[in-house]
Order: sequence, then C-alpha cells, then structure tokens
Amino acid sequence: MKMRVLGRSGLVVSELALGTMVFGEGPPRGTDPQDAAAIIRRYLEAGGNHLDTADVYAGGRSEEIVGEAIAGRRDEVVLATKVRFSTGKGPNDAGLSRTHIVRGVEQSLRRLRTDHVDLLYMHTWDPLTDIGESLRAADDLVGAGKVGAIGVSNFKAWQLMKSLAVSDRFGWNRFVAAQYQHSLVVRDIEAEFLDLCSTEGIGMVPWSPLGGGFLSGKYRADQRPTDAGEGRLATQPADDEEAWDRRDTERNWAILAEVERIAVDLGATHSQVALAWLLAKPVVSSVIIGVRTMAQLDDNLGAAGLVLPPGEIAALDEVSAPPLGYPYRFMSLYGERRP
Ligand SMILES: NC(=O)c1ccc[n+]([C@@H]2O[C@H](COP(=O)([O-])OP(=O)(O)OC[C@H]3O[C@@H](n4cnc5c(N)ncnc54)[C@H](OP(=O)(O)O)[C@@H]3O)[C@@H](O)[C@H]2O)c1
Repeated sequence: MKMRVLGRSGLVVSELALGTMVFGEGPPRGTDPQDAAAIIRRYLEAGGNHLDTADVYAGGRSEEIVGEAIAGRRDEVVLATKVRFSTGKGPNDAGLSRTHIVRGVEQSLRRLRTDHVDLLYMHTWDPLTDIGESLRAADDLVGAGKVGAIGVSNFKAWQLMKSLAVSDRFGWNRFVAAQYQHSLVVRDIEAEFLDLCSTEGIGMVPWSPLGGGFLSGKYRADQRPTDAGEGRLATQPADDEEAWDRRDTERNWAILAEVERIAVDLGATHSQVALAWLLAKPVVSSVIIGVRTMAQLDDNLGAAGLVLPPGEIAALDEVSAPPLGYPYRFMSLYGERRP
C-alpha cells in the first residue's frame, strides 16, 4: 500500500486508514472482538499502518480491541484516537477542558495498552471551553510524550483557523490532520476545507468515505432497506447523518449509476471507485475505510493503487457537484485575478 505524509507533520501513513468505529458494537451494525482483531491483522498484513479509533466508539470497547490486536507490534502503527464526546455521566466527562482532555487521554492509553498515541483528534468544537485551554493542554501532552501530534475533526472553518492562529501565537503544536466527512455523496466540506487544509499544511483524513455503505452499491433506488441485515442504513434514525432519506435522492442515485459505469469499465467494484475518487485528491493523506466484515475489508483494500483516469474523475466530479452557495458562487464569478 502506498504511503503519504500526514500534512506538514513527519508522520507517514498508509493511504487507507482502518476505521474501528463499529468494532465491539453488537450486531447487526457491529463486529465482534474476534472478527475485529482478525480484520486489524489482515489490514496490517496488507501494508496498512494507520488505525483510527475514539474514546467513545462502542463505549471504549473499540480502543480495547485495538490495544489487544496491536500488542507486541505497537511501533508498526500510527495510532489515532479522539477526545471530546461524553465518556461518563458527570458534567466534566465531556468537552475539551484541560481536565477532560488529560483524564480522557489517560483512560484511552489504558484501554489501548500503550504509553502514547501518535495522533489525538479533538472530535468536535466545545462551546464551553476557550480553545486556548484545549490547545495548551494538548501541547502539554505532546511535551509529555503521551501524544505525538494533534488533529481536528468537525470544527467550522473559522474555528479551525482561530485554533491555528492561537497555536501559532504561543508556539504550541498546531493541528496536522483534519478528519471530516467526505465522499461522493457528502461534499459539503469542499467549499472551505480543502483549500484551508492545503494552504495550512494539514492532511485531510476523510471519514464515511462510502456514505455509511451507500456507495458500495448494495442498496437499490426503489427498495428502502428495512431489515437490519441489509446494512446499517436500514436502521439509522431519521435525524441521523446517515438517515436513509438523506441518501435516497435523485442526485445520489445518479452518482451511484456513474460509479457503477466506471466500476464495470475498469473491472473494479463500486466501493473501490468511490474510495479512489477521494485518493486522487492531493490534500488527502489517508482515507478511513469503515468495515464490518472481512469480505468488506478485502473489497475496500482493492482501492489501494486503483488510479482513476482523469476523464472518469471529471465525470464523477460533475455528477456529484454540490450547488455552489454564496459567497463561493460570487467569488467564482467575479473574484478571478490574473497578472
Ligand atoms: N471523526 C468523526 O466524527 C467520525 C465519524 C464517523 C466515522 N469516523 C471514522 O471513519 C471510519 C469510517 O466511517 P464509516 O464507517 O462511516 O465509513 P463508510 O465507509 O462510509 O461506511 C462503512 C460501512 O459501510 C458498509 N460497507 C463498507 N464497505 C463495504 C463494502 N465493500 N461492501 C458493502 N458494504 C460495505 C459497512 O456497514 P454495513 O455492512 O452495516 O452496511 C461499513 O460498516 C470509522 O470507523 C471511524 O474510524 C469518524
């Protein structure tokens, strides 16, 4: 598997990261610990080195499974976890306060059976905590050797830019990775974050690259999935990011039809084409594949090394183009400047 540098950091990561969000969750959405461990081993054998977990995945079980699976081979792995969401019932068991970040990381390290993580993400903005407090706490953890580098996830663009400015002002470690939802069916971040990350030297690490499984091609336009065994989109609540009604749109079925045409032409699968479209973006350091089964892993690993011809990338860009809102439309119409 090809390696890429993670933003302007010195970390080298495989172009496919392995997401572990459903490891340790019960059926039908989750993967039991034994199967999850086998999936992690197969991913490492295939040349992957970038594991993504979080303190809240499966209530901490995901971190435990990852820790057990990499015991004895810790240094082969770039290990990423996250802090911010609620890990307990108390008012200080969530957020980006110094207290929660430090305590959260200590607990993650115990579950992961290691003395450091390579990458710590702030999982989303905390409206109660001054970002300077969070960045200083994270910087101290880097200084103490418990965290290698820091990343951001699910911040608004101004929040991310403000964070970078605060880090720069005080000479603290700044974010080197950005984890955002990005796929052919969810391109919202493109208006702000792709430019932002490439100019700021931040490696983009897309999550939900298949739109929760939609882009695997296993769903059909006229067949609303109702049985949990059909895939996780069958059981998502109506207000969820992955709600079926958010996926079941004319635009998305047109995207899937184009993915299918290209897959047939190239002798690849739907998932491989959808993942390769993300891998073609220079700002992307590593795409996080989410898998529930070994067969899904084998399928998605096939995206490594699949290079889409430029004409096919353009076709996918066109069919999935999100509407250009203001001020982006205004700037594209009138903002050009040539010497
Ligand atoms: N930072 C954040 O806020 C955030 C949020 C979400 C996720 N993440 C990270 O990103 C990772 C990936 O996210 P995701 O799980 O949403 O990714 P995804 O690729 O969009 O969806 C993965 C799901 O799609 C189905 N699937 C995957 N490959 C398939 C294949 N080849 N054929 C058929 N079905 C397939 C499986 O679910 P079924 O079999 O149940 O259909 C699998 O669990 C997570 O594990 C986590 O590490 C981060």
